[in-house]
Amino acid sequence: LINQDTYLVNGELKEWKGETTEVYSSIHTLNDKGEYTPTLLGSIPYMAEPEANDALEAAANAFGKGKGLWPTMKVADRIACMEKFVKQMEGKREEVVKLLMWEIGKNLPDSQKEFDRTVEYIYDTIEEYKQLDRDSANFKKHDGVYAHIRRGPLGIVLCLGPYNYPLNETFALLIPALIMGNTAIFKPAKHGVLLISPLLEAFRSSFPKGVVNIVYGRGRQVAAPIMQSGRIDVLALIGNSKSAIALQDQHPYKNRLRLVLGLEAKNPAIILPDADLDLAIDECIAGTLSFNGQRCTALKLVYVHEDIVDEFNKRFAKRVDALKFGNPWEPGVMLTPLPEPGKPDYIQELIDDALEKGAHIINKKGGEKTENYIFPAVLYPVNKEMRVYHEEQFGPVIPVISFTDIEEPINDIANSNYGQQVSLFGKDIKELASLIDTLVNLVCRVNLNSSCQRGPDVYPFTGRKDSAVSTLSVHDALRSFSIRTFVASKDN
Ligand code: G3H
Repeated sequence: LINQDTYLVNGELKEWKGETTEVYSSIHTLNDKGEYTPTLLGSIPYMAEPEANDALEAAANAFGKGKGLWPTMKVADRIACMEKFVKQMEGKREEVVKLLMWEIGKNLPDSQKEFDRTVEYIYDTIEEYKQLDRDSANFKKHDGVYAHIRRGPLGIVLCLGPYNYPLNETFALLIPALIMGNTAIFKPAKHGVLLISPLLEAFRSSFPKGVVNIVYGRGRQVAAPIMQSGRIDVLALIGNSKSAIALQDQHPYKNRLRLVLGLEAKNPAIILPDADLDLAIDECIAGTLSFNGQRCTALKLVYVHEDIVDEFNKRFAKRVDALKFGNPWEPGVMLTPLPEPGKPDYIQELIDDALEKGAHIINKKGGEKTENYIFPAVLYPVNKEMRVYHEEQFGPVIPVISFTDIEEPINDIANSNYGQQVSLFGKDIKELASLIDTLVNLVCRVNLNSSCQRGPDVYPFTGRKDSAVSTLSVHDALRSFSIRTFVASKDN
C-alpha cells in the first residue's frame, strides 16, 4: 500500500493531515471474505482550494513575473537540475513499472516501454535544448538591424496528463515546460496517480523551490480555482476535449492563455483492394487493441474495400478471438483489466446501439463481459447512424465499414470533428501518392501500411480540428512552451 501523506509545494514535502481518497486497482484480488474485488493500492490527499492556492503562489513566486531564479537561471544550470532529476528517476524503474501495471493495467512490456521512453524523452529534450540555445546564439542582420534571437518562458503552466500514459504523456508536457524556464503546477492523472509517489523526492531535491508543485484531488476542487485565479499562462493538457474546454472557460483572461492540448481522435484505417492483407491485419490488431484501444492514436474505425471485406472480417475476427486476456504481468497478455470502472458498461452501450441499428458482432468472443473487462467486439457493418461511428470509444470495440469508392472514407474524414492521423494500406504507389496529397490536408500524419502512433518522439505529434492545439515532440514541445524574443541593435 502507498499512502501518500505528503505533497510537494514550494520545494517542501508537506505533511498531509486532511481527508484522503482511496486508490483502487481494477485488477481483482481475493479479499478477507474469499471474494475477488478491486484491489486497494493506497490513498492520496483530497486537496481543495487552499492547497491549490499555495501551489499557485509557490509557482508564481518561483517565476517571479519572469524575474525569478528559475526563468533567469543559466542554461547550463537548468540542464544540471534536469539531469539530476532524470538520474534519480532511472533508479525508480522497477517501482514505477509495477505501479503502471497495477494502477492502469498496462501490460509489462508496454509499462517498461512507457518508463524507458520517458527517460529517453528527458535526455533527448536536454540535447534539443542545448541545440536550441546554440541556434539562438546566431545573429541575423536585415535592413541594417542586427537581431539576437532567443526563446523565453511563458510563465506558470498548469499541467494535466492522461490516465493511459500517466508518466510518459504527463512528462512530455512537464519536462519541456520546465526546461524552457516556466514553473509548473502538476496534477497527476486520476488513474496512475500513485506512480508519481516514487518520484516526489527526485522532484524536491532536483529543482529550486516552487518550480514544480504537485497537487492531488478532483479537478473541480483543485484545477478550477487555479484557472479562475487568472494567473495561469499555459494550460497543458492531454485528455478529453470536455475537460479542456471547461478549464479554459474558467480562465478570466482567455487572450493571455496559451494552450498546449492533445485531445481526442477517431483515427481510421483505410484498406484498399490491393493491400497486403496479412500486414493490414497485423497492423489493425496492434492499432485497434494495444492497451485495449485506450490510446488517442488507436485505430477507431476500419474502412475495408468491399472486394476484400469478407476475407478481412473472417481473418481479423479469428485473430481478435485468439488474443489473450489476463493480468498485466502474465507473459503474452495483450488484453488487460480496464482501469475506468464504468468502461465495460460504456462499451456495452455502444455495442447494443450498433446491434439495434443493424450491425453484427462477427467474432465469437466479442462482447463477453466481466466486472472489469469486455472482450473486444468486431462490429460489421457499421454505419453513420451508430454511436460507435461518431464517439471516441477509447476501449475494446472495433467498428468495420466497407466502402466501394475511396471518396466515401475521404469524405467521412473531411467531415469528422477530428483530424489526427490515418493509416492507409495498399500497394499501388501512384494511387497512394495521390491519396496522401489529399489526406495530409485532412489530418496531420498519414501512416503508410502501418497503424497510427505517436512515436518516434522526435516527429511532430499534433492534430487538426478537435484533436489538438499546438504540437508536441522533443523538438516542437520546446517551442510550444516558449516565446521567441530578440534583442535588436544597429551595431553588431
Ligand atoms: O493516447 C495517446 C497517445 O499519445 C498515444 O501514444 O501512439 O505512443 O501509444 P502512442
